[in-house]
Amino acid sequence: MIETILWTDEGVVMIDQTRLPSVETYVTCRDYKEVADAIRTMIIRGAPAIGVAAAMGMAIGVEKANPADLDSQVETISKELAGTRPTAVNLFWAIDRMNRLYQEIRHLPHAEISARMIEESKLVRVEDIEINRAMGRHGAPLVPDGKTVLTHCNAGALATAGYGTALGVIRAAIESGKNIDVFADETRPFLQGARLTVWELQHDGIPTTLITDNMAGHFMKAGRIGCVVVGADRIAANGDVANKIGTYSVAVLAKENGVPFYVAAPISTLDLTLSSGDLIPIEERGASEVTQVFGVQVAPTGTEVRNPAFDVTPNRYVTAIITEKGVARAPFEESLRTLANS
Ligand code: MRU
Repeated sequence: MIETILWTDEGVVMIDQTRLPSVETYVTCRDYKEVADAIRTMIIRGAPAIGVAAAMGMAIGVEKANPADLDSQVETISKELAGTRPTAVNLFWAIDRMNRLYQEIRHLPHAEISARMIEESKLVRVEDIEINRAMGRHGAPLVPDGKTVLTHCNAGALATAGYGTALGVIRAAIESGKNIDVFADETRPFLQGARLTVWELQHDGIPTTLITDNMAGHFMKAGRIGCVVVGADRIAANGDVANKIGTYSVAVLAKENGVPFYVAAPISTLDLTLSSGDLIPIEERGASEVTQVFGVQVAPTGTEVRNPAFDVTPNRYVTAIITEKGVARAPFEESLRTLANS
């Protein structure tokens, strides 16, 4: 299995996702600021993986902190990690979880607090892999046998602690004996599909075809796609789904062509405090991701650019949301709340 993120004696080790697929190299973050930078610069990315990184960032921050001033340093570390990326709610979920633990154990000696925080962050990682496997078990029966699954962005082992959400469902369907191949959208501008999804599926020997984002409708209309499975960065209480930019277009095309559109995401990606997806903060990234392709300028200098990194797919386009606790269908207000509380 691909190792996305690990706690080691040297620090938090991550595969550098900005350099894949040409270079497979690992980065060691030795303090929380380096973890925050790794999240901001997308050395590590994908909602659940960002959550694990934030938990480990909190742990390494506490480990290296001055014991005389722990409360205020925990607050500083939490704020810096929370300020890295705004959309994936797993980041805030993990920081909250680590803060809740800290509040329970803050009276203990520093060495003990540190050991417990490190253990908890390792647990977040291990649980994430188990959650993905459970999601796979729930999602696999939905994937039609002998068909092609279209996916967008990378919601695989690289976007999680391992196995993946959307790609976990695909892996589980194949493990259950289904004959499936994958169409991967390249996912402009950051190319998570071309660089990461294709790389990790090839790594597992899963037959994969790369298409550019604007080809998805063509293949759906031709009857080539059996279903769509994507991940999510934040899901509102009504089932609106924030995911990588371009997901909304894929969902509309899927509905138009009668192709089921599935979202695979852990319960930690639900944000039941938000009544609708309109309230989800959307990260806007730098212009150079759009004007350049790997350092090569493709637009005139000075071009006005917009670069929202995510979009929101309204719940009416979502056939079902696959979680580790089961499959939610419309009306999502009810089904998501029931699963979250089960
Ligand atoms: O900007 P990224 O690469 O962090 O965006 C990732 C996505 O949009 C994924 O689809 C989402 O986080 C789900 S990953 C299991």
